[in-house]
Amino acid sequence: MQDRILPPAKAVQNTHCTAQDYAALHARSLSDPDGFWADQARRIDWDRFPTRIAGWSYDPVDISWFEDGILNLCFNCVDRHLPSRADQVAILWEGDEPGVARTLTYAGLYAEVVRMANCLKELGATKGDRVTLYMPMIPEAAVAMLACARIGAVHSVVFGGFSPDALRGRIDDCASRFVITADGGMRGGKLVPLKANVDEALEGSAVQSVIVVRHCGNAVAMSEGRDHWYDTLGATVPDTCPCEPMNAEDPLFILYTSGSTGKPKGVLHTTGGYAVWTATTFHYVFDYRDGEIFWCTADVGWVTGHSYVVYGPLANGATTLMYEGVPNYPDCSRNWDMVERHKVDIFYTAPTAIRALMREGAAPVKKHDRSSLRLLGTVGEPINPEAWRWYYETVGDSRCPVVDTWWQTETGGIMITTLPGAHAMKPGSAGLPFFGIAPELVDAGGNVLEGAASGNLCIARSWPGQMRTVYGDHERFVQTYFTAYRGKYFTGDGCRRDEDGYYWITGRVDDVLNVSGHRLGTAEVESALVLHPKVAEAAVVGYPHDIKGQGIYCYVTLIAGEEASEALETELKQLVRHEIGPIATPDLLHFTPALPKTRSGKIMRRILRKIAENEFATLGDTSTLADPGLVDSLIEGRRNT
Ligand code: WT7
Repeated sequence: MQDRILPPAKAVQNTHCTAQDYAALHARSLSDPDGFWADQARRIDWDRFPTRIAGWSYDPVDISWFEDGILNLCFNCVDRHLPSRADQVAILWEGDEPGVARTLTYAGLYAEVVRMANCLKELGATKGDRVTLYMPMIPEAAVAMLACARIGAVHSVVFGGFSPDALRGRIDDCASRFVITADGGMRGGKLVPLKANVDEALEGSAVQSVIVVRHCGNAVAMSEGRDHWYDTLGATVPDTCPCEPMNAEDPLFILYTSGSTGKPKGVLHTTGGYAVWTATTFHYVFDYRDGEIFWCTADVGWVTGHSYVVYGPLANGATTLMYEGVPNYPDCSRNWDMVERHKVDIFYTAPTAIRALMREGAAPVKKHDRSSLRLLGTVGEPINPEAWRWYYETVGDSRCPVVDTWWQTETGGIMITTLPGAHAMKPGSAGLPFFGIAPELVDAGGNVLEGAASGNLCIARSWPGQMRTVYGDHERFVQTYFTAYRGKYFTGDGCRRDEDGYYWITGRVDDVLNVSGHRLGTAEVESALVLHPKVAEAAVVGYPHDIKGQGIYCYVTLIAGEEASEALETELKQLVRHEIGPIATPDLLHFTPALPKTRSGKIMRRILRKIAENEFATLGDTSTLADPGLVDSLIEGRRNT
């Protein structure tokens, strides 16, 4: 089979960016970044257009873009579209049950955002306050984000699948005094008790106000003085609310993400650079044309939902589809059923979802009319060529280009991708750097590799959408991203560049797992496991998993005198779910009398990884182990189910 697929002819018509355009724009973005980004910044309406464009240093680390610009991102996503698009659908929502739908036009979105913003103000929220959102995938989630942006409050969205403990940690870390949630959310026919989780998370906390959106109608407890129904509170607030003028470098949001050590860190994004980055990438990568229906399946609890369900599409005046539920409810044709009914033009999802649907065969896809589709996208993890081909051929009928977009919570938006009208696609490769992006492959010694090579993926220069700091811990920001390779941003990913300059991401090279496109730190899972009184030590690694990409493999040692059992295994899985959330549930638990350690007591994770991956032949040097004999018993005890 060919490994280079040219963009289908139709994709090249009227494209925003041809191959020639890409070459010229990318060259200029590197030779004249100030000029290039000043031009792109015109996608945004500014109260004061910036005169200073790039202002960053990686050594010492200090990043700013559009530093003297003043803008409001809510204005850019909502108000400025009113003269031309008041009656155009901004948010097209479908609930968990097929056919349950709601639309918000730009005028309707404006009214709701103003209402929510005034509710926040009424409760005393002002510029700079952190507001935690713990929401189902309903329009009010986007409304709440935009309302925060409108008044200059900093939102921190916590994925509704995280446990009360995880929620509490994130509320405490940024000292949020405000929470916006809903009574509940529906996923696959099941109720997620969001408000009850909030109540548990807030026991003894300093949160002063909770706004509760009525959605499922499930019974909830309301704490007098603290909890407010959105419909009641919102009924009496004024129907106008000015947009707070924000400096380009004022914080827009915090989003917690897992690292290789310690607690999840609060990735901080600021206003101007993020606005320009999401608006520009959305325009070019999805080649968006006026009037099209754009569907990104990500939850707003992840960065993909921030950038490509909410900010990128709305800044471009697009119609963004928001779906509450899951792809296999009521059955595995749901996505295609929705594509048919809503005439979706652009569909953006994760490889794990594609692999799961691929298993069900072509019939659920083929029974729905997908002729509205023009472009397909993937994000979150490397896509195996087989899944890529199925997506391209079966879902897209070999008609729709596929963009495989590599990026991270930290990068704010897409960094490496092909552009649909400009580049040939290579199944499994993310493609080429977006404008302004200068990737470098670096070997362990810090040498920059040229031409076709494999190494650790760094980015040599700043780009507008880059995170600015770890909330409350700038030192951790510097340590995590700028210390391994001084003067460069280190992504944590391994990567190969081929002879055509295409990038092939090989996955994380640190102790971060990517489970169904969700990021998890091995340290977080370990911390949860050792909370159990019978557990002495735990070491968690990833292993290849057909659907999830990576599965969670846990080595556990018990304290002396305790016995392994199926009941204990179940308890430990429950414990992790309870501490972090269902996405962190261990796939395989391996009880072992000891962990392989060096004589100085350091756990040799490399060996644990190899065993979990069934790569017994390439364990490498085991002679430095305190107890080399342990390896055989670990191999023997390797869990498969
Ligand atoms: C990590 C970032 C960006 C939104 C979703 C994930 C992996 C992401 C790709 C891709 C190969 C990918 C990387 C990256 N990743 N997209 N197209 N091909 N790998 O955001 O949770 O911050 O995770 O996801 O390993 O470092 P995130």
